[in-house]
Amino acid sequence: MTQARFRSFAESTHAEWALIDAHFREYQSDACRRVIAHLGRLQGDHHGYPVDRYEHCLQTATRALRAGADEEMVVCALLHDIGDDLAPANHAEIAAGILEPFIDPLNVWMIRHHELFQGYHYREFFGQDRHARDAYAHHPAYERTVRFCDEWDQTSFDPEYDTLPLAHFLPMLARVMGREPFGGLPKLVAAPSAAVAQGMQDPA
Ligand SMILES: [Fe+2]
Repeated sequence: MTQARFRSFAESTHAEWALIDAHFREYQSDACRRVIAHLGRLQGDHHGYPVDRYEHCLQTATRALRAGADEEMVVCALLHDIGDDLAPANHAEIAAGILEPFIDPLNVWMIRHHELFQGYHYREFFGQDRHARDAYAHHPAYERTVRFCDEWDQTSFDPEYDTLPLAHFLPMLARVMGREPFGGLPKLVAAPSAAVAQGMQDPA
């Protein structure tokens, strides 16, 4: 059997779920490669900015690395805008969703809120309050999010900057996304014995 034959989950069997589970684990382990491929699609996507989104992501990660940020933070920097093309109106949710199973919840919060915090540097041009991020001043991730935006994100639009290539960051991304997801993946229970299976199919 290479594919399940059920037409609805109500018809599914243990053997079919075992097959699907094996495929899922392989698919899950290959997610990092697909994320890298998607990051590459941001090349040429500049939308009027001085550098494209790909360069911006690499530059943000380079600055974080050179400032001594830990590996997880560098990976956050590398992916933080990866959702720009898929979800322009709420792009931060994409990177937060990709990394959420593998990283500190405070870093997830940081990614999720980076657009608001970044707005400190441009919201006034849109008639908005540049200090809006201060509503979160007492949040435990406030300081790291301010640093992320002020020192690494908003500064990474410089075409002349000595940005490191993607290859430099790939081992870091592989290590972070290679972690066991928080809570683990659901594990398939053992197949019921023939007698039990028969009893399930043919109740007295
Ligand atoms: Fe950014």
